[in-house]
Amino acid sequence: MIEVNSLHKSFGETHILKGITTSFEKGKTNLIIGQSGSGKTVFLKCLLGLFEFEKGSISYEGKIFSNLTRNEKTNLRSEMGMVFQGSALFDSMTIAENVMFPLRMFTKQSKSEMEDRVNEVLQRVNLENAHNKMPSEASGGMQKRVAIARAIVNKPKFLFCDEPNSGLDPRTAIVIDNLIQEITDEFNITTVINTHDMNSVMEIGEKIVFLKDGLLEWEGSSETIFRTENEAVTNFVYSSNLFRKVRKMYLEENK
Ligand SMILES: Nc1ncnc2c1ncn2[C@@H]1O[C@H](COP(=O)(O)OP(=O)(O)OP(=O)(O)O)[C@@H](O)[C@H]1O
Ligand SMILES: [Mg+2]
Repeated sequence: MIEVNSLHKSFGETHILKGITTSFEKGKTNLIIGQSGSGKTVFLKCLLGLFEFEKGSISYEGKIFSNLTRNEKTNLRSEMGMVFQGSALFDSMTIAENVMFPLRMFTKQSKSEMEDRVNEVLQRVNLENAHNKMPSEASGGMQKRVAIARAIVNKPKFLFCDEPNSGLDPRTAIVIDNLIQEITDEFNITTVINTHDMNSVMEIGEKIVFLKDGLLEWEGSSETIFRTENEAVTNFVYSSNLFRKVRKMYLEENK
């Protein structure tokens, strides 16, 4: 569980996050949605401890980040996995080396322990035969799976994903979303995902936080988002022509 209380973040004079209070539950896929520029990535970077903020607090399973010692902060960071936008794999390393990287950074495991764990997670993301490939030889969907394997290799308690399915075709995007949700459930991780994608909202939106101009405008779930009257949310949800048309058909059929 992550609890965010009255979080404010500025860059110089520009106030970006304007007092966000919410919580993200363990074992759930929590989504942050909102228009481009609404503050999703800045928020995620605050949750990751990459950005300092001037007001408010974030606690991770009861521990308030700013009250931790340097060592405790490092320990907490080692419990976080991250899937960056665009996968961000190391080009000069094989897929197996990419996945092993956090184990080398954060653990003192032996080579064979690390190899066993890499095998386990690559199998988990259905890439058991890809160890020796270079990232450039992998498709976009494969690269995302490698990024997910790397994010979970050190058994994180918290998983953060920034637009994990951007650039993928809709079918592959759903495979990636479902994989993240299954892993979240299986290992009881607190997962927070930034997305623009209404498919993700419908598939895996167990909790949804809607940001608008750095404020929490609405929160709910994939069930309640289609029923809310909140205009900012409905504008976002029905910004896609496809959704508008489906909704119109639905309303006409149910007259
Ligand atoms: N390092 C930074 N320095 C100054 N301003 C920044 C920095 N990072 C982000 N911003 C500003 O913060 C605002 C929110 O940006 P952010 O990247 O969080 O949006 P977003 O919701 O993730 O958008 P997108 O959906 O396009 O990824 C933007 O106005 C952006 O210009
Ligand atoms: Mg972003």
